[in-house]
Amino acid sequence: MKTVSKNIHAVHTLLAGLALAVLIAPGVASAADPQLEKAIEQGRELFSHATFDGNGHVCESCHLAGGASPGKLPNGKAIPSLANAAAIFPRFRAKDNKVIVLADQVRSCIAGGLGGNPPAYGSEQLNSIISYLTSLSEGKPIEMGGQPR
Ligand code: HEC
Repeated sequence: MKTVSKNIHAVHTLLAGLALAVLIAPGVASAADPQLEKAIEQGRELFSHATFDGNGHVCESCHLAGGASPGKLPNGKAIPSLANAAAIFPRFRAKDNKVIVLADQVRSCIAGGLGGNPPAYGSEQLNSIISYLTSLSEGKPIEMGGQPR
């Protein structure tokens, strides 16, 4: 009897451990949905390869290591990582005197940083880049008005 309850306890511990591993492993939550997983991968691909008919830069030219680590502008100036970007939008952008969402930021980096043609709101390309960026922030608390880290 004692062995049985011990075994049940061991199984519970194992199950709890597995559940926790699924919760904290990066990118695993999205694996539950293959279509979302595909969008994230497509976004990652665009992030490192798409020029959007611009000046030849890609996102990764400035946002290094897929945006996961701090970036660097062509002039050498350091910029923060995109690791928590999805958790700190929407935000007020003083330059435009308005609140912008993540999609606005991505489109303005494509128009500015890449000198390219931003994909339309709601397009597969824009949505997949946003899916990718959001996957970087997985597990981070939403922080309205927060700073990039
Ligand atoms: C030429 C350099 C450059 C390129 C290329 C570039 N960006 Fe940026 N990006 C910046 C700079 C500078 C900032 C911060 C200032 C700002 O708001 O424009 C920024 C900010 C961001 C932010 C907000 C980060 C935060 O937490 O505040 C996101 C998200 C972002 N970029 C995504 C992208 C994506 C996606 C691409 C490719 C489609 C891209 N960027 C290409 C320079 C670049």
